[in-house]
Amino acid sequence: MRHPDTTTALQSTRDALPYDEAVKIRALFCVDQSTRRAVGGPPYTEDILKELDNRVNFDAGLLDTARQRIRLGKAIYSQNGELVAYLGVTVVHQASLLPYDRTYVWGGKGPLCDDGVFIRRFIVKNTERRNGYGILLLKEARNLSEKFAKHLYADTKADNIPMCQLAVKAGGSPNMFWFTPKGTLMVRYIWI
Ligand SMILES: CC(C)(COP(=O)(O)OP(=O)(O)OC[C@H]1O[C@@H](n2cnc3c(N)ncnc32)[C@H](O)[C@@H]1OP(=O)(O)O)[C@@H](O)C(=O)NCCC(=O)NCCS
Repeated sequence: MRHPDTTTALQSTRDALPYDEAVKIRALFCVDQSTRRAVGGPPYTEDILKELDNRVNFDAGLLDTARQRIRLGKAIYSQNGELVAYLGVTVVHQASLLPYDRTYVWGGKGPLCDDGVFIRRFIVKNTERRNGYGILLLKEARNLSEKFAKHLYADTKADNIPMCQLAVKAGGSPNMFWFTPKGTLMVRYIWI
């Protein structure tokens, strides 16, 4: 098993045109049926672009971090410059629960506000799995949650064994379970 070097692997290349980069990232989610099922369909390219753009501004200290919801994206490249993984999070500052979360995650009850760093996109290129990039993505997410002094959360289908095992291996704990409108059992992991 190869262990990616965090200092070199965590490069977010800006050499590629941002739109091309977002298109390539989106393709990671479409690679096969089991990946599409695991992630519930690919994100929009425009959303990835926004996440990448926010992240560049965040790293440069130019993002208004007082906003209630901030989407941030990070692409991971191998040492030979190949796109291998992508992480997308939403940083939530005391924001009202979204209608979906209130109804399905919290079953119509729950807190008035959400707060935390929520993993929204999490993918490793299918040919690069089991090489440690998943752990690397979670470290990146943990770093972000520490920067914002918030808990980290990751939602996944309860039958997504790779993601569930990875979350536990990386120190996460199952925090809550719920069913989607289509009856899929979901689990939310938390890192405190
Ligand atoms: C889930 C995913 C990101 C894991 O990425 P990865 O790079 O393969 O993970 P790692 O190599 O860092 O694995 C770390 C640990 O996770 C667990 N794990 C990863 N893949 C696994 C698998 N197929 N079966 C069981 N456990 C697995 C293992 O505990 C592994 O440690 P080990 O290799 O020492 O046994 C990857 O499988 C993926 O992209 N899946 C499709 C998209 C997806 O499901 N995203 C999550 C949606 S919320």
